[in-house]
Amino acid sequence: MSSVVGYIGKNYSWDFVVDALARLEYRGYDAAGFACLDVANKHLLYAKAVGPLQNLIDKVADKIIDGHVGIGHTRWATHGASTEVNAHPQFDEHKRLAVVHNGIIENHHSLRAQLKREGHEFISQTDTEVLAHYLEFALGTTQNEKISDLIVSVVERLQGAYAFIALLQERPDLLIAVRKGSSLCIGIGEDEFFVASDPIAFAGRTEKMIFMPDESFALILPDEVFLYDFEGNRLMFSVESVDVAWEEKGHDFESDMLKEIYEQKQALNATASFYKQLHQRDGLWRSLNYDRNKVKQLKHINLFACGTSWHAARIGKFFFELIAQTHADVSLASELRYMPFFPQENSLYVALSQSGETADTLEALRMINGMKLPTAVITNVAASIMVREAQGFLLLKAGPERSVCSTKAFTSEIGLLYLLAHFIALEKGLIDQAQLDKAYRNLFIAAQALESTLERYRNDLMLSLAPKYAKYEKFLFIGRHIMYPLALESALKLKEISYLFAQCSPAGELKHGALAMIDENVPVIIYSHLDPLIYKKLVANAQEIKARNGHLIIFGFNGQEELKEMADCFFAVPQVDPLLGPLAMSGLMQSFVYYIAKELGRPVDRPRNVAKTITVE
Ligand code: AGP
Repeated sequence: MSSVVGYIGKNYSWDFVVDALARLEYRGYDAAGFACLDVANKHLLYAKAVGPLQNLIDKVADKIIDGHVGIGHTRWATHGASTEVNAHPQFDEHKRLAVVHNGIIENHHSLRAQLKREGHEFISQTDTEVLAHYLEFALGTTQNEKISDLIVSVVERLQGAYAFIALLQERPDLLIAVRKGSSLCIGIGEDEFFVASDPIAFAGRTEKMIFMPDESFALILPDEVFLYDFEGNRLMFSVESVDVAWEEKGHDFESDMLKEIYEQKQALNATASFYKQLHQRDGLWRSLNYDRNKVKQLKHINLFACGTSWHAARIGKFFFELIAQTHADVSLASELRYMPFFPQENSLYVALSQSGETADTLEALRMINGMKLPTAVITNVAASIMVREAQGFLLLKAGPERSVCSTKAFTSEIGLLYLLAHFIALEKGLIDQAQLDKAYRNLFIAAQALESTLERYRNDLMLSLAPKYAKYEKFLFIGRHIMYPLALESALKLKEISYLFAQCSPAGELKHGALAMIDENVPVIIYSHLDPLIYKKLVANAQEIKARNGHLIIFGFNGQEELKEMADCFFAVPQVDPLLGPLAMSGLMQSFVYYIAKELGRPVDRPRNVAKTITVE
C-alpha cells in the first residue's frame, strides 16, 4: 500500500527518503517517486518510475537530484493505472509545489470540476493531482493569510481519509504534513526532521517521534515543529520514545514467505511464554484495559477483521464458545460499518490485524470506540495506529512479517486467541490452573507438529507434488467446523500467491450446489478433523467426491485410515488438541500453496495487485 515520507534539515534528503521507502517496500506498491528543492533552494526537482524502487534509484543515478527538503512515495494504484504520470509526487500546474499522498480524497470529482472551471488542466487521473492543484488554488487566493489558515481552508474542503506531505518552492524552509484517518508521524533528529506514514521508516535514525493526532497538520521547519488541529488551533504534543525493531534483510531462505513459514513454531512459543508471564504478573487484563471483575460477567466477544485475520477470528470463535462458554460473533470489518449494529452489554469488541493499520478494520474500530463500547486490538505492530486508538491491546510475538502473504501472524493470532479463551475461562471459574497449564503445553505440541510437517513433506512438495498440481487451473477447498475457516484461508492463500482459481465450501454444503463442479480436473482439498462424529461426516463427503471421479488431496491426522485410503494425495499431520487442528495444519497448507506458486514462477513475496497493508477502504 502507498507510503509517504519526507525530510527537512541539515542533511540531504535523498538518502533518508530512499532508505525509508525501501523499509516500507514490504507494504506493497507499483511505482515510486521523489521530489526535492535543489541545494540552492531555487528549483523543484523530481523523478518517478514505475515498478520497483530500484527503477527510481537507477533513474536518478547519473544526475544529482537532492536537497535539504525532500519527499518520497511508493504508490499502490487506486485512481488511474500504474504509470509514471500517475505516480507521486503530483504537482500544481506551475510545478511550484509537490505533494505525496496516502488514502483517498473522496470528493476529488467535484474539486476537479471546480478547478477546471477556474482554468486548471490535469494530466493525471489521480485524486492527488487534484489535491496539489487545490493547494495551489488556495495559495493563490489567500496571499495574505498565514500558512496555517491556508491549510485549514484546504482541509475544510477535503473529504475522505488521507495523509499527505507537501513542499513549496517558495518556502524552502517548510514541510507541510497533514493527516486525517491515515497515519503520519514525525521523527526528531539533530537539526533535522523526518516524516513518514510508518515509524519503521525512522529505524536507525531516531527513536524520538511525534505521532500526529487524527485531523491535525504540522508545519515543519528545519529546527521546529508546529502542530495544529483542523480548526487552526495550536496543539501541544508529546515526544514518544519508540524502539522500532528493524531486522535488516538477508537470510538463508529463498523468500520472506518461506522464512516466515519456518518461523511459526518460534513465534507461537514466544507468544505462549510472553502471555504466560503477563498473565502471572496480572498484566493481561491491564493491557486489554478490561476490568478483571468484568470478565466474569463477559457475555459476548465481538471480533472483527479482514482477510487472513478474519479467518483467524473465525477460528477464535470456536475457542471462546467451546473453552470460555462465551458467545462470539465475527464480522468482516469491511462490512461491519454498513450493517445494522446492535451494541451489546458485557461485551468486548476486538479488532484483529497483523499490521494494525488496515483501513476497514481501523474505521470499524473507530465506529465502535465512538459508541463508548470497550475495544481492544490484537496486532503484530506495536507502533501501529490501532494500538494507539483501541482502548486495550495484545501484541503478537511473531516478529516483523514482510511477505504480503500472511503466515506467522495468522498462526500467532490463532495461538493468542486460544490462550485468551483459556484466560477468560479461568476467570469465569470454568477451568483451573492445571487446565491452563495444559493449554500452554497443547500450544507447544501443535507448534511442534506444524514444524515437523514442513521438513517431512518439503522434498515431496518441491520435487513432485508442486509440479503436478501447478498444472491444474481450479481448486476446491472444503472443511467442517473449526477446519472450515482453515479451508477459507487456504483458498485465499492459493489465489493470492499463485493466481489460480480457488473456491471454498463447507463440506456439508457440497451437495447443495458445489458438487456440480466435481470432475477429475478440479482437485478437492479436504481438511480433516479429530472429532469422531465430524470425521465420519467428512469420510462420507470424501466418498461422494470419489464417486464423481473427483481428485482428492487430503490433509489428515495420523491414524485416519479411511481418508488415507481414498486420497489421491494424503498429508499426515500429528494428532493435537482437536481445537488446534487448524494450527497444526497451517504450515503444511502454506507450504503446499507456496511451492505451487514457486513452480508457476510467481513473485511469492509481492504478488500482483495486492499489498501488505491496505490503507484504503
Ligand atoms: C493475507 O495473506 C492477506 N495479505 C490479507 O488478507 C490480510 O490478511 C488482510 O489485508 C488483513 O491485514 P491485517 O491483518 O494487517 O489487518
